[in-house]
Amino acid sequence: MKRETMDPVAIIEAKRDGRQLSSAEIDFVIRGYTRGDISDYQMTALLMAICFRGMDPDETLALTRSMITSGEKIEFRGLPALPVDKHSTGGVGDKITLSLVPLVAACGVPVPMLSGRSLRHSGGTLDKLESIPGFRTDLSLEEYRRGVESIGAVIMGQTEELAPADRKMYALRDATGTVPCLPLIIGSILSKKVAGGAKALVLDVKCGLGAFMPELEKARALGRSLKGTGVVLGLQVSGFITNMDQPIGRFVGNALEVREAIEVLQGQGPPDATELTLTLGAEMLLLGGVVSSREDGRQRIHQAIESGAGRQKLKDIIENQGGDPNVADNPDLLPRADKIHEFDSPETGFVAGWNARLVGLASMRLGAGRLHRAHTPDPAVGIELLRKVGDSVDKGETVARVHYRDRGRLNTALQLFSEAFSITPARPKPPPLIIEEI
Ligand code: URA
Repeated sequence: MKRETMDPVAIIEAKRDGRQLSSAEIDFVIRGYTRGDISDYQMTALLMAICFRGMDPDETLALTRSMITSGEKIEFRGLPALPVDKHSTGGVGDKITLSLVPLVAACGVPVPMLSGRSLRHSGGTLDKLESIPGFRTDLSLEEYRRGVESIGAVIMGQTEELAPADRKMYALRDATGTVPCLPLIIGSILSKKVAGGAKALVLDVKCGLGAFMPELEKARALGRSLKGTGVVLGLQVSGFITNMDQPIGRFVGNALEVREAIEVLQGQGPPDATELTLTLGAEMLLLGGVVSSREDGRQRIHQAIESGAGRQKLKDIIENQGGDPNVADNPDLLPRADKIHEFDSPETGFVAGWNARLVGLASMRLGAGRLHRAHTPDPAVGIELLRKVGDSVDKGETVARVHYRDRGRLNTALQLFSEAFSITPARPKPPPLIIEEI
């Protein structure tokens, strides 16, 4: 179809009937929708047709390119190494960004990071950071550029200027049941990364009960497709599929997770959160070109923990974004819930599971997340797991603490939370944290 004779209805019909769309047709729709010439109802019909009919790699690439060029694209100047971003497909207790970004930046690799907010059971980095008094996640593009060029890292939300097509499409997808669709996810994630100035990307594709893609095959397909499309766009991409059956670390909830990330930076973090930080950090240093092997990368991240350079970098990032840097020395400055409910084991045995999805939903019901986009999360509430999968427990022993403010919310959360916990007489083998490389 020639551009001057293009018609949104004909493009919707073509996809409805399973035809491959040309790059020009995709570009016509994305531009038209971003400008407001194509209506929400037409875009919804096309998105749903894409959900049913799919897109091949050429169409996915064309979609991502059009989404990138729907807005501005940042080019950083004078950086000491390749700017590297990390993308996690989201999970429960996933506070890794908060320890990873300062450590990688402290090792000389700039990190321009555009993050998201919590949605349903899964947490959001921006909500966690906003539990730090004064912390701003709404920097201007100029502040973003200056922060990355001077401090070495910024973590903020998507702006009006970067990939505006994604901003508009994501809100529509969220309201029309069209989020779980591979080509749309690829376009959404990669358009933000490329527009935000990243030249390399480390993926943490979650798989398991609390993941967006619970099944391994689907997580693999997402990882491969993100990597394949990213590489054609000129990004260096690598990463891992990692386990998300139980929450990462001990804490779920905004300020509680910031506290735990500070523990990782102090070398006192839980084994799984520390291991993920080391694995992903080493990969980012490798892609950034400051080390020549993963082993060297791990060593450098270790040193940045030992020397306190990572914690100092977190303070720099917090200060640059208007927050109180003293929280990195004194996490008691973070908001805290005034009430704690102790959750005791009903049996003697071994922890068989903490269903991450149910723990995440329980935390959301306490007020830590969003039932709807308009909700503002409570920074203080959340869940503390005292025992993890494979640990032994006695009947009546406290296995978790629920940090809450409101008894009604606690009761709703506890219904989900008690279902999340399972116990077995024989010690189960905890699943591997890093499942495979992408
Ligand atoms: N995260 C995104 O940024 N976009 C999606 O479509 C899904 C997850």
